[in-house]
Amino acid sequence: MGMGGGMDDYPRKPHQQNQNKTRLKIFLLVIFTNLLTIYIFTGSSFNLSLSDHTHHPSLWELDPKALLQELNSTQAHLASSNTRIAQLHRQLISANSLLETLLSELGGRLQEPTEPVKPSGFSSVQLSGELKLAISPHKLPLGYAPRVGSDEVFPPVGAACLQFLDELKQYMTYDVGGECPVDDVFAQRLMLKGCEPLPRRRCHPKSPVGYVDPTPHPESLWATPADTSIIWDPYSCKSYKCLIDRKRSKGHYDCKDCFDLEGREKSRWIVDNGGLDYGIDEVLRAKPPGTIRIGLDIGGGTGTFAARMRERNITIITTSINLDGPFNSFIALRGLIPLHLTVSQRLPFFEGTLDIVHSMHVLSNWIPDAMLEFTLYDIYRVLRPGGLFWLDRFFCLGSQLNATYIPMIDRIGFRKLRWNSGRKLDRGIEMNEWYFSAVLEKPMT
Ligand SMILES: *[C@@H]1O[C@H](CO)[C@@H](O)[C@H](O)[C@H]1NC(C)=O
Ligand SMILES: *[C@@H]1O[C@H](CO)[C@@H](O)[C@H](O)[C@H]1NC(C)=O
Ligand SMILES: *[C@@H]1O[C@H](CO)[C@@H](O)[C@H](O)[C@H]1NC(C)=O
Repeated sequence: MGMGGGMDDYPRKPHQQNQNKTRLKIFLLVIFTNLLTIYIFTGSSFNLSLSDHTHHPSLWELDPKALLQELNSTQAHLASSNTRIAQLHRQLISANSLLETLLSELGGRLQEPTEPVKPSGFSSVQLSGELKLAISPHKLPLGYAPRVGSDEVFPPVGAACLQFLDELKQYMTYDVGGECPVDDVFAQRLMLKGCEPLPRRRCHPKSPVGYVDPTPHPESLWATPADTSIIWDPYSCKSYKCLIDRKRSKGHYDCKDCFDLEGREKSRWIVDNGGLDYGIDEVLRAKPPGTIRIGLDIGGGTGTFAARMRERNITIITTSINLDGPFNSFIALRGLIPLHLTVSQRLPFFEGTLDIVHSMHVLSNWIPDAMLEFTLYDIYRVLRPGGLFWLDRFFCLGSQLNATYIPMIDRIGFRKLRWNSGRKLDRGIEMNEWYFSAVLEKPMT
């Protein structure tokens, strides 16, 4: 039955006694809260009426001018008590929501009396020190509440961070104002597990020794940066030469040949082979010249797609993670914009804003179907009407292509402007592994 099961589904008999105790507690709690409310209201009105009656002379003793002043001051009093009442009202609302939380927790206990209550949020977890400061709610100055919709604000942090509380605590252990630990790999692993966004920290990331100014644009687009541009500690390679040479190694590395800007990167998206590999200029021709101006490349490796688009005066933001390589820094050193984001995160763009979204390799059948559908809907969301989604070499099994992915893309509502699929070749042998590439359009209406 699971989460949908109501209280009536649960066999209650054996826990009757326990329940009665809890009921009594709830009853007492309700009485207590009501008494508190009565106290707050009568207490404050008592104060108001007291001041009204003791300090003010009666009407007969006043001349008209004084009477006006008196009226004026009464008005001021009224205004201030209105504010006070509004304040009390807010307090009451928050007391009520506290009560609701308590009641629902107790309700949960009634349902499963033998099992411990699982924490339903950060509020029910013991937090302390820097972690507490970083993720607990903070009070807003009076007057901001209506704009925000709450009189306190929670610094955002991935809900799944709760599942990895020990690691989160470790991440938040450092000298405030000092140097951050070099824990990029550890932090990114937390993100990849769903603790995204991570909380903010109050420390300085270590700077590389001997940092030099980056290569000027436009040479920067195709220049290998200086080795002193980054901290190498988190990576197995300790120089760009090592990263470039990695393409010849047997090891399994993400985007193995992406750091060699003189190699395969140079020719990507330049030639349209009429099959799975589209050319940028051919794709852009789907729209009136100059109307594709801004966009996003999801999982864009070292940023070559954005570099090629920049040469066409199109601004592309590249999401990338640093999987055993300094991908984000490398993109930035090319003079392009990196965004350190996993594919699970909601895209930080407003809906209907981007002209184009491109993605190669990263969106594939490793992503659980339900998650992928949310991702594709999110891409649809951020595209403007008539915007393009270039899905580049999506990898899957033959059976998944027709059974899962084509129906999913249709269901979301994309229009196919171009579609190619083909079997994967392994040393000339056709496998039952397929790629498809597509240019999809978000409909105009
Ligand atoms: C009433 O108060 C306002 C400011 O609070 C002041 O500008 C005004 O002159 C006062 N009127 C009288 C009649 O005192
Ligand atoms: C890009 O913009 C610059 C400056 O406006 C212009 O000189 C150049 O021709 C443009 N390049 C392309 C490929 O449109
Ligand atoms: C998918 O369906 C089409 C049309 O029914 C068929 O021609 C094609 O072979 C199928 N593809 C795969 C990979 O099974």
